Amino acid sequence: MTVYLVGAGPGEGDLLTVRAARLLGDADVVVRDRLIDVSVMEFVNPLATIVDVGKVPGDSSSQSSINELLVELAESHETVVRLKGGDPFVFGRGGEEILALRDVGVSCVVVPGLSSALAGPLAAGIPVTHRGISRGVTIVSARGARGEITDFRGLAHAELTIVILMGVEHRGVIAAQLIEGGLDPTTAVAVVEQAWTGQQRTTRGSLDELASFDVRPPAIIVVGGVARFDLRSLELFDVALL
Ligand SMILES: C[S@@+](CC[C@H](N)C(=O)[O-])C[C@H]1O[C@@H](n2cnc3c(N)ncnc32)[C@H](O)[C@@H]1O
Repeated sequence: MTVYLVGAGPGEGDLLTVRAARLLGDADVVVRDRLIDVSVMEFVNPLATIVDVGKVPGDSSSQSSINELLVELAESHETVVRLKGGDPFVFGRGGEEILALRDVGVSCVVVPGLSSALAGPLAAGIPVTHRGISRGVTIVSARGARGEITDFRGLAHAELTIVILMGVEHRGVIAAQLIEGGLDPTTAVAVVEQAWTGQQRTTRGSLDELASFDVRPPAIIVVGGVARFDLRSLELFDVALL
């Protein structure tokens, strides 16, 4: 009994890894999350059963029923693929699913996926660690395990890029805390909605404008000098080297 825990990447199906595409083609059952692009499903065995577990973010009761479902399916099917958006282990609760399966003797094979945390900014032409502008990147969820908002004040650092997942509804608090923590209110910000899909949209501005951005989830918020870049058009906004 094996469950394949597979990353679907951030959007379009051709961003799947070769290994993920092969496993989808061999699957008897695919248990998929929200945010899986329709083009990914073109890689799935046409005879496979598709189970939607459209989990609402932060809902831990549905996580335990997903764990139970995976155990049940693994007992009755040869190739069960648990398909998760982006990378299963970047705010994807892949670790919890593996532990639940191992507890009942089901083995797991993991296949990484391109995470929206890194591929999302690039979809808008943003190089998250452009030399001379950013020394590193902090990837953070706006909320903790109990739904509490992350304290952003300690994350403010002018030479680091901050990539925030699940932050759209808290964007006002995030901006206020980063400014309180020491970031200049004019620090560049970009919000990339539905990266690597046909509905992709990018909104740019400064940290003190973030609260008023007209944006919807799923989206990635990028804070830092690199957010001025759009390498797709080779257009560099007024970038100041550190
Ligand atoms: C529960 S997390 C899952 C992240 C996923 N495991 C990954 O590695 O990309 C969901 C959040 O990821 C971000 N996200 C996922 N896919 C996205 C996409 N295509 N465009 C923009 N943001 C995305 C959003 O912040 C969304 O609220």
